[in-house]
Amino acid sequence: MGGNAVEEAFKMMTYGVYIIGTAAGDKINGMTAAWVTRVSVDPPLLLVAVSKGHYTSDLIRASKAFSVNLVTPDQAEIAARCGSVSGRVSNKLADERIEYGETGAPVLTEAAAWLDCEAVDEFECGDHICFVGRVVGAGKRSEQVLIYRQGGMQPAPVEVE
Ligand SMILES: Cc1cc2nc3c(=O)[nH]c(=O)nc-3n(C[C@H](O)[C@H](O)[C@H](O)COP(=O)(O)O)c2cc1C
Repeated sequence: MGGNAVEEAFKMMTYGVYIIGTAAGDKINGMTAAWVTRVSVDPPLLLVAVSKGHYTSDLIRASKAFSVNLVTPDQAEIAARCGSVSGRVSNKLADERIEYGETGAPVLTEAAAWLDCEAVDEFECGDHICFVGRVVGAGKRSEQVLIYRQGGMQPAPVEVE
């Protein structure tokens, strides 16, 4: 199978759009991620794949914590910023309303929902590091979320009674 076919097939996959919140010492960061999935019900575990060179990997390792914030359509701009600039060069969350979870990870007040995670495991997967988070807190504010497909972000269709 050619590399092109592999990429074409991957492009068909749908993902959520999340901002991974991290903090260590006086540093705070948000990174947009699509490669996030739940991996266990009991205990409640999820996994995020973070590129080895990203600042987020350093901050998760330093703090042993991260938050997963589900992005609303109104937050498309912050998702684009957190997905294109490294927190090593600017504080991407400087203009955002922030609270802190029990783990100390920053949570976006205006996210559709958030999960506060203790980083309990990590392993290398090719060019990414898979961090496993045990969810210790969560909140929800809206049904409206963005999804990611074909290299773009768009509002997810939603039907709620
Ligand atoms: C929609 C979208 C999804 C992304 N998903 C991921 C992801 O799952 N894992 C990852 O390592 N980078 C992902 N990125 C790229 C990072 O967000 C980007 O490289 C970021 O600047 C890294 O920030 P940091 O150095 O502050 O951690 C994504 C970017 C966008 C726009």
